[in-house]
Amino acid sequence: MTERLKKLCALLSPCEVFADVGCDHGYCARYMLNSKLCKSAVITDISASSLSKAERLLKKYISEGACRPVCCDGLKGVAEGSADLVLIAGMGGEEILKILKESYIPRAFVFQPMKNAEQLRSYLIANGCAIEYDGLFTETRGGLIKHYFAIKGKNSGGTPPYSAAELAYGRDSLGTAELEELLSYELSKNLAYAEGDLSPSSRAQVEERIQFIKGVLRGENN
Ligand SMILES: C[S@@+](CC[C@H](N)C(=O)[O-])C[C@H]1O[C@@H](n2cnc3c(N)ncnc32)[C@H](O)[C@@H]1O
Repeated sequence: MTERLKKLCALLSPCEVFADVGCDHGYCARYMLNSKLCKSAVITDISASSLSKAERLLKKYISEGACRPVCCDGLKGVAEGSADLVLIAGMGGEEILKILKESYIPRAFVFQPMKNAEQLRSYLIANGCAIEYDGLFTETRGGLIKHYFAIKGKNSGGTPPYSAAELAYGRDSLGTAELEELLSYELSKNLAYAEGDLSPSSRAQVEERIQFIKGVLRGENN
């Protein structure tokens, strides 16, 4: 498993039925089943060829009836309440949002959006979810450090209102070395954009972003 998947799997709690939506390779379900962290797993993917990778990996569990593969869009093949922990990882936040809006917010979830995490956070909070962990982890690959957001929670219980910085970067990311590193990178990228030839509206947006990032780095908006 890659460092990203290992760190992601460390966020998964024991459950009866685990569902991995957009499972692709199937490593997360294998981790849950091998570690006996779940009794059974549902693996889904919208792509039959992606799902077949996971089916090969989990052949033994599928033949024993402990793993059920479903080729479907999002949660459409996972009846509400049939899985007590749902993982959706490695997709854009907008895609995850689309999946939730077209079906339901799972009782317990771990989401790892590749981008647009802010929109996903807003939706979860607006819909009464209890956010238990909303942080950032890194993976070093080929000398490059990649940053990933992960959001773990439940579909009820509520979350106290988030500040602008918490919405943008996740409540548990604030003040961490990982976030400082990400912000420094984002700041230098935006400062470089600001040097370029921009329309007045794009310039205003970039300037606003720069001020926001500087504020978060100074511990404001937090
Ligand atoms: C980049 S892979 C991520 C795989 C794995 N979840 C991970 O984090 O490593 C994204 C997978 O999600 C699947 N996918 C994308 N949109 C989906 C949807 N609406 N429903 C189910 N699967 C989807 C893709 O086919 C692909 O296999």
